[in-house]
Amino acid sequence: MKINKKDIRTIRASDSKTFVEIIDQTLLPHQLVFKKISKLDEVISAITTMQVRGAPLIGVTAAFGVALAIREKADSSDAFIAEVSKKLINSRPTAVNLAWAVNRVSNLLHNINPNDRLEAAWAFAQQIADDDVNTNKSIGIHGLQLIKKLNLNKVNIMTHCNAGWLATVDYGTALSPIFFASEAGMNIHVWVSETRPRNQGTNLTAWELEQAKIPHTIIADNAAGFLMQQGQVDCILVGADRIGIDGQVVNKIGTYLKAVAAHEHQIPFYVAAPLSTVDVNFMGNQKKSFEIEHRDPEELLTISGINKKGDIDTLKIGRSAALNPAFDITPSKYVTSVISEEGIIDPENIGRHING
Ligand code: MRU
Repeated sequence: MKINKKDIRTIRASDSKTFVEIIDQTLLPHQLVFKKISKLDEVISAITTMQVRGAPLIGVTAAFGVALAIREKADSSDAFIAEVSKKLINSRPTAVNLAWAVNRVSNLLHNINPNDRLEAAWAFAQQIADDDVNTNKSIGIHGLQLIKKLNLNKVNIMTHCNAGWLATVDYGTALSPIFFASEAGMNIHVWVSETRPRNQGTNLTAWELEQAKIPHTIIADNAAGFLMQQGQVDCILVGADRIGIDGQVVNKIGTYLKAVAAHEHQIPFYVAAPLSTVDVNFMGNQKKSFEIEHRDPEELLTISGINKKGDIDTLKIGRSAALNPAFDITPSKYVTSVISEEGIIDPENIGRHING
């Protein structure tokens, strides 16, 4: 994506292959800061503190983490790669893309001579990053057709959290069709739900749309149902962290409520995600392969922003016990379609699609 007319990806591998450069997303929209990461602990910390976040991007970052760890410790043994992979996979438990990317790199390395593994790990991670860009472009092109099919002079699209380019290497998933629609000259407006407690909507999605000059309005999460009821929402577009083979969708907390309200008001509810988001071990109540991440309750009891001096600051807003589940599960009956890189898929048939 372009920032100040410069093409930028969310993660960039150094030519020296000694570090990666990320955008510290905890500082947006107030400061755009690039950060160099060269050690395994730094990769894990960037993922857990959400300096990098979004299912596809944490996968790509962790894939580079394998290469950085091999270099840091000068160890490319099977045992070391297994240990590093486990640490990376455990850094956030819900998005399937994290384990998918790490396992892809480590499985490929097993068939490679240990002396060549550092070079190979770097190349595999770069490949996963490049593939992500192409995948998201395809999602955007397919999603654009769905927006066009609504056949409206002006389209009001609601999104939740951030499934834009910041959540991926480039383009994004849910925002990719929106970027393509804007480029195609369509008259679109985006309702951006703030996404408490971490405010990815306010801080990240609104910032992306502002950069792309796409008309948008931030709303409180609780305003979503009212706007749907008032006929001000033509479709909803969200991303996904994991999709069951029966089509149920795990995504940012609050997605489920939007889906139920959309169903009530017959508003199309689209989930844009690469097919790598599908978990073949997840079906019905079977959640053995993952857990819903519960984050520190302090995230709910505090709010971050910029103070009068222009510094980023955190304020305490609550003192009671708090519970902070970060994701919820939307049953497939509420999902109109999944927008994948291979086209538009009926959620109930997604498992069939994966099995070919
Ligand atoms: O906790 P986050 O900010 O990593 O959650 C992100 C989301 O829920 C996104 O919708 C999802 O990862 C899809 S990103 C293309």
